[in-house]
Amino acid sequence: MITFILALIITILCLIFIIGRYNEFYWKRRNVAFYKKHKVMGVFWDFLTKDKAIFENLWEVYKEYPNEPAIGLGSILTPTLYVTHPKNVQHVLIADFNSFNHRGLDVNKDDLLADNILFMEGNRWKLMRQHRTPLFTTTKLKSMYYIIDKSAIDFVTHLKDNRLLLKGDAFNTISSFCCAAIGAAVFGVGTKSIFDSPFLYMTQNAFKSSFKLNLKFSIGHLCNPLYNLLGFSMFKGFEDLIINAIKRVIHEREADYVKRHDFADVCVSLKNAGTMVDKDSDLKLEPTDELLAAQAFFFYTAGVEPIATVIFNTLVELGRRPEYLSKVHSEIDEAFKLHGSMNYDAITSFKVLDMVVNESMRIHTPVGYVTRKCVKDTVLPIGNIKVDKGTKIFIPIFELHHDARYYPDPEVFDPERFSPDNKHNIADITYLPFGRGNRVCLGARYGILQLKAGLVHLLRNFTVKTIVMEEGMKYSRQQFQVRLSNFDLEFIPRSNA
Ligand code: HEM
Ligand SMILES: *[C@@H]1O[C@H](CO)[C@@H](O)[C@H](O)[C@H]1NC(C)=O
Ligand SMILES: *[C@@H]1O[C@H](CO)[C@@H](O)[C@H](O)[C@H]1NC(C)=O
Repeated sequence: MITFILALIITILCLIFIIGRYNEFYWKRRNVAFYKKHKVMGVFWDFLTKDKAIFENLWEVYKEYPNEPAIGLGSILTPTLYVTHPKNVQHVLIADFNSFNHRGLDVNKDDLLADNILFMEGNRWKLMRQHRTPLFTTTKLKSMYYIIDKSAIDFVTHLKDNRLLLKGDAFNTISSFCCAAIGAAVFGVGTKSIFDSPFLYMTQNAFKSSFKLNLKFSIGHLCNPLYNLLGFSMFKGFEDLIINAIKRVIHEREADYVKRHDFADVCVSLKNAGTMVDKDSDLKLEPTDELLAAQAFFFYTAGVEPIATVIFNTLVELGRRPEYLSKVHSEIDEAFKLHGSMNYDAITSFKVLDMVVNESMRIHTPVGYVTRKCVKDTVLPIGNIKVDKGTKIFIPIFELHHDARYYPDPEVFDPERFSPDNKHNIADITYLPFGRGNRVCLGARYGILQLKAGLVHLLRNFTVKTIVMEEGMKYSRQQFQVRLSNFDLEFIPRSNA
């Protein structure tokens, strides 16, 4: 027995050594720097063993190799490249999109809710993206704005009626607004906004950081065959809730001809239009309830956490900078004086608020990095790096936003960077809160609308005080989100409200 265990340990150690050397040589042959600290598991080792977000581990690598155009990372046997030079980033996301059109996150076929546009690949993705895009045109957003605005007004009333919510756990409170707003945009507005719904629980738990989920996430990244072999899934537990909700709403709408301009309307027209067909490849996609529910599920997860993050972080920064807080307050008050209430044109014409929000998304970008997978052998221009089909790619977002070469004094919150006089200094490709290229965030404009509506109605009626629980910037251990953990907020009713 002892000899067996000993032999096993020795075999494992040998394997680790061999895999590590293999990875190192793989990148050496291509003349690419290799992250030697964890040759087998790369950034996932520290993610699993230390209390740190993945983006923080990437950031360490970034700082260690500031002048390399890309860095090889250990990822068991999948070649993995962390592409850091802006020209190479631009190549992967935009110029050579066809070689990198895969998100690089393979999911289990049985995980019905993972069959959403974020994870979809190839022609299925293309087809779904084409059919989703009409939901986010300017006309559509204009006609949807009333839904968002109502949720934001109801949220202010909700806070005024529940004073205990004014201090402490502000992130949660803000999430409940985002959940009500996205819920209304997906399922239609009711007479009352719902701030405490099972969907809030769903969004808070879908990407929750726990050792079990983090381990699954890491295995999915490091060794997809093993992930599938073990039959792992991420979202199984939420299937009943959202699939039933979609079924119900589609059924109700079929009996009712009023246009509401929300996601449920789009679902009904997709169902009525029948099979979606991609003309180039002849691929067919059935708009089943499950497929539509998977899209709705993703809209929830996209519309709650990241938007709540931007609202929360923006208020944290404003609460520490009275000069900007008062500028934003007066801009909002003037807009209300001018328009009486908020509408699409008013909410999209704020100047100071726009600069503040953009700077907030620079310094605290909600999504730390994006991934791609190479689907066709190609070459990156800077460093002339040969990339083989199957290579996983990490693209920095947080790191670019915090690089002094692109943003002088990167740790200083300074909305003036986005003033009309200064904004030309920012290179487009180094500002990526919503990613870039053909797989750019589909809901970016919707997201900005929802977060601005939240901010405007909140700041119309409240002022904010930032509570610093620990000095500096601390982040919680997250898979891809960037979540500040050392601040909280207090909302103080304004005397004029
Ligand atoms: C402030 C809020 C949001 C942020 C910061 C954000 C950020 C992102 C980022 C970084 C990506 C990856 C882009 C890439 O790989 O280049 C993404 C993808 C995506 N986002 Fe968002 N997002 C937000 C809100 C939303 C909302 C509200 C929706 C929909 C209702 C949405 C829908 C999507 C979709 C569909 C994709 C996948 C696109 C594809 O693969 O084709 N997002 N988002
Ligand atoms: C802020 O960012 C949005 C979207 O990224 C952009 O459309 C807008 O022009 C930016 N505003 C400023 C003042 O830079
Ligand atoms: C918010 O403040 C405005 C301006 O003082 C006021 O008209 C409005 O009724 C307030 N909203 C709520 C829900 O109290």
